[in-house]
Amino acid sequence: MKRKIAVVTGANSGMGLSTTVGLAKENIHVVMACRNQQRGEEALRLAKEKSRASHIELLLCDLEDFDSISHFVEQFTNKWGMLDILVNNAGVVSLKRKVTKEGYEAQLGVNHLGHFLLTLLLLDSLKAAQKARIVNVSSGAHKWGRIHFEDINLETNYSVMKGYGQSKLANILFTKELAKRLSHTDITVNALHPGAVSTNLGINRSTGFGKSVYKVLNPFFQSPDKGAETALYLAKSTEVDDVTGGYFYKQKPARVSKRAKDPYLAQLLWEWSEEELSKKGYKK
Ligand SMILES: NC(=O)c1ccc[n+]([C@@H]2O[C@H](COP(=O)([O-])OP(=O)(O)OC[C@H]3O[C@@H](n4cnc5c(N)ncnc54)[C@H](OP(=O)(O)O)[C@@H]3O)[C@@H](O)[C@H]2O)c1
Repeated sequence: MKRKIAVVTGANSGMGLSTTVGLAKENIHVVMACRNQQRGEEALRLAKEKSRASHIELLLCDLEDFDSISHFVEQFTNKWGMLDILVNNAGVVSLKRKVTKEGYEAQLGVNHLGHFLLTLLLLDSLKAAQKARIVNVSSGAHKWGRIHFEDINLETNYSVMKGYGQSKLANILFTKELAKRLSHTDITVNALHPGAVSTNLGINRSTGFGKSVYKVLNPFFQSPDKGAETALYLAKSTEVDDVTGGYFYKQKPARVSKRAKDPYLAQLLWEWSEEELSKKGYKK
């Protein structure tokens, strides 16, 4: 039987790495979409070792850079042309306000807009597969989020809660609107909360600042393998073959906030996102 193909973003660390290993163990070919060559290569070696599989590869993709995303898709499409599973897992938490190369507040730019562009550019490959699945890693943090259309890049009164919450709410609104727009196809799209997981989230990659927080919290947090279980469930389980537009926690449907259920808000965010992409020359 032909091997299925998956793309996992942020595959070099935390739950992205565990998801990669879990998919490879199921005989799925995994393309690890990572932003950093060195961290990516080290993780590729680890993923092959842990899964005892060789059908894993690394392709660079920096989700804060539209050209990098487009280059990733071009390379992926030229080589594979078909995609069964897309796991939009990468994420950042930023204590101080940062902006992406494209000028967006970092959490909105990476967690939402980068994945929005990546998914739209991969749609033809997803349509070419049979019953492809898109899995968006959101968070319970969406519950305190709102979409600040009046200052979406949070130039005033920035807080990490505001920025991260907005981006994780955006993940669910994107999931719901995309599910609606793909309802005439056999592609499903679902979102999830992985729980509180001990990873590298929020740790500064150059200075290591933030590591001590996990040391304190570790006893209360799940392992990345445990945290990846719901993403793997949505990527593979036959139980969710025909489920789309859902939000899951611990492999069960879970409640979302009132804002995350608002179809008008989902449509507005979609239109804003499309408009931003087209301003930068990226039309769907
Ligand atoms: N940990 C939790 O308790 C928790 C709870 C709820 C939801 N989540 C969500 O779970 C997902 C996975 O996070 P994690 O906890 O496993 O954190 P992690 O260990 O920090 O992994 C995050 C991954 O995202 C990648 N990434 C960050 N910015 C990127 C960019 N511009 N382009 C491409 N990749 C980028 C990172 O790459 P580098 O290593 O190169 O920086 C890393 O591979 C995130 O979406 C997060 O919001 C986590």
